[in-house]
Amino acid sequence: MPIVFKKDTNQFFLHTDRSTYVIELLDGRIPLHAYWGKTLPDMPPLVTWKSSFPSMFLAWDTGLEDVDFITTGCLPLEYPVFGSGDMRDPAFHAQFADGSRVMRLEYVGHTVTDGKPKLCGLPAIYANADEAQTLEMHLKDELSGLSVYLLYTVLPAYDVITRSVRVVNGGTEDVRLLQVASASVDFYDSQFDMLNLPGMWARERQIERRPLMHGVQRTDSKRGASSHYQNPFFALMPSDTTETAGEAFGFNLIYSGDFLASAELDAHEMVRATLGINPYDFSWLLTPGEDFQSPEAVMVYSDAGLGEMSRKFHRLYRDHLLRGKYQHGNRPVLINNWEGTYWDFTEEKLLEIAKGGKEMGCELLVLDDGWFDNDRLGELGPIGDWDIVDKKKLPNGLKGLGDKLNAMDMKFGLWFEPEVFSMNSELYKKHPDWCIHVEGRPRTKWRHTLNLDYSRPEVCEHVIKTISDVLNSAPISYVKWDYNRNISEAGSKGLSPERQQELRHRYMLGLYYVMETLTSRFPDVLFEGCSGGGGRFDCGILHYMPQIWTSDDTDPEERIYIQHGTSMAYPAIAMSAHVSASPNHQTFRATPFKLRGDVAMAGQFGYELDPAKMTDDEITAAKEQVAFYKKYREVVQLGDLYRLVSPFEEPFAAWEYIAEDKNTVLLYTFVINSKPYVAPKRVKLQGLDEAAVYVDEATGKEYSGAFLMQVGVARERTADHLSEIAVFRKK
Ligand code: DGJ
Repeated sequence: MPIVFKKDTNQFFLHTDRSTYVIELLDGRIPLHAYWGKTLPDMPPLVTWKSSFPSMFLAWDTGLEDVDFITTGCLPLEYPVFGSGDMRDPAFHAQFADGSRVMRLEYVGHTVTDGKPKLCGLPAIYANADEAQTLEMHLKDELSGLSVYLLYTVLPAYDVITRSVRVVNGGTEDVRLLQVASASVDFYDSQFDMLNLPGMWARERQIERRPLMHGVQRTDSKRGASSHYQNPFFALMPSDTTETAGEAFGFNLIYSGDFLASAELDAHEMVRATLGINPYDFSWLLTPGEDFQSPEAVMVYSDAGLGEMSRKFHRLYRDHLLRGKYQHGNRPVLINNWEGTYWDFTEEKLLEIAKGGKEMGCELLVLDDGWFDNDRLGELGPIGDWDIVDKKKLPNGLKGLGDKLNAMDMKFGLWFEPEVFSMNSELYKKHPDWCIHVEGRPRTKWRHTLNLDYSRPEVCEHVIKTISDVLNSAPISYVKWDYNRNISEAGSKGLSPERQQELRHRYMLGLYYVMETLTSRFPDVLFEGCSGGGGRFDCGILHYMPQIWTSDDTDPEERIYIQHGTSMAYPAIAMSAHVSASPNHQTFRATPFKLRGDVAMAGQFGYELDPAKMTDDEITAAKEQVAFYKKYREVVQLGDLYRLVSPFEEPFAAWEYIAEDKNTVLLYTFVINSKPYVAPKRVKLQGLDEAAVYVDEATGKEYSGAFLMQVGVARERTADHLSEIAVFRKK
């Protein structure tokens, strides 16, 4: 059984295939964290928190009412509460009607069930009864009647534990929640590095790794979106952990809004990791009888380095986070008109792009920004009126265009930005108070838009109706859901004064409701998430939309870094990647067509250019790229990724994908910058069968698995931007 409660020792053992997590009830009352790491056999001596504090606490007595502050100051708490003698960052902070913030959460019971319950209104990992087991531990503050339920789901095959928290006001007076973290883990060690994925627009998810210093190291978002700037993922690992060896503890929050991820190295040389909704500008009124559900945190343990940690995240997300018809691939190769025309297109031009794309082998044309209203020739044009098609550009409407595309055997995809509107839209004229704002105060416009207030049910229903009407009006089989601003001047006309600080989380609940409704109403439509590129690349969005536009930066050199960093937590099947024109529109860098194709073929492949501007050689190369991708896309989409060489360590990158059946191996190599007189790079593969023979498809040359892994293959690095995708077949 994955979850075992040992009554005699008051301990919960949560076992995955290769890891164990232990919670212990101090005096049967206070949950302590005893262990998280490699599997521990079920034999004496059992690990307990005291194993780590042999002398200091053996004399512990049960006088919990009057605890010594030194003792509580470093007790490994499973869910630390604000206001106690523990002076580190809390996971939970609430205020009672009398203004006090002090409580004692004590264990009152638990249940263990097979499978995994759904989280009300929130995206989450899902699993069947035979795939997971869930522990729900009930803690209660006796004096106020406040209950806190800690939920742990164990997915043994993935070495994953998911955690979330439900709070129920069982008292007779209001409670104000000020922080409800989803997970908190007290580690008994201090020698950790923290790995984060900071970035920027067009430079998302770069890898940053630093040793923990005393104090709190935090990354967060206060933007109303998980953001370009940080990602709700982080990993902790001993400083000698590498890509292929050592322990790694990965944390990821299934949430698209403001998050806080922190690691506190304290004076006792212990580390507390915390992950959850950002307490910044958050407070939630819980009236008697009401409950609050936190988002879910995913925790992955690896004892084989960061590469194995990432593969576990990837497998979990492919199998238990993504949903719908396109969960396992089967997605069209597309051509998008954005970088080809920007706002300046006609039906004729779009059909020409589609024809060019079709010749290359594309299966779908995406019509990007600018198809609606009557004069959106740039960012100043109105936005928000999805029911008004620009008849100057599209005289036959969306249906006319869609029918013509379908007649040439191309599918039709459409761009929306449903969370914003501009002041020159009809929608704003009708509902000026539907924006997020505080009356009488200035508002920050981004790209000339204001944020629609998704905390209001009527706004959500309006969006659902207008988008549904458009999707019903034409043969649309793909939607690109863009969001190009963040939340500022947070205020809502729909919320009472005492609930104003619920806006940011209520916005996310509204967004998830809209996404859930639309994606289940249109199960055949492939939805792609986007937020000015990868400004909301997170598991919340991926639960509804199985792929996300990874970045607005389509320069392949930049993309190598972005895709490498993104792969720390997210699988290739989720990363949209397109070939665009050279010189690149974001970096102005010129790159070979081959490099652009090779980098994009490591993700969800497509094009984003005007085929009329391509040379004949490029068209021929594009045909070969599409044919290659169609032949091998399942290896990329469903295979295991091995990051062989990191561009963050040298001006070269190598990625390897091994098919699910282990018979096909794709080796991607990229020279970023060349160096004079440098020897070829020997790229050593991983994860192969040592004794098997692998045939290089291009040359027919045969290699043993051991040779490929120990000697490797040589790649010239005498010129910038050399790239190659080699295919090895197991004989
Ligand atoms: C930002 C997106 O990331 C781009 O791909 C494009 O759709 C533009 N918005 C359109 O305004």
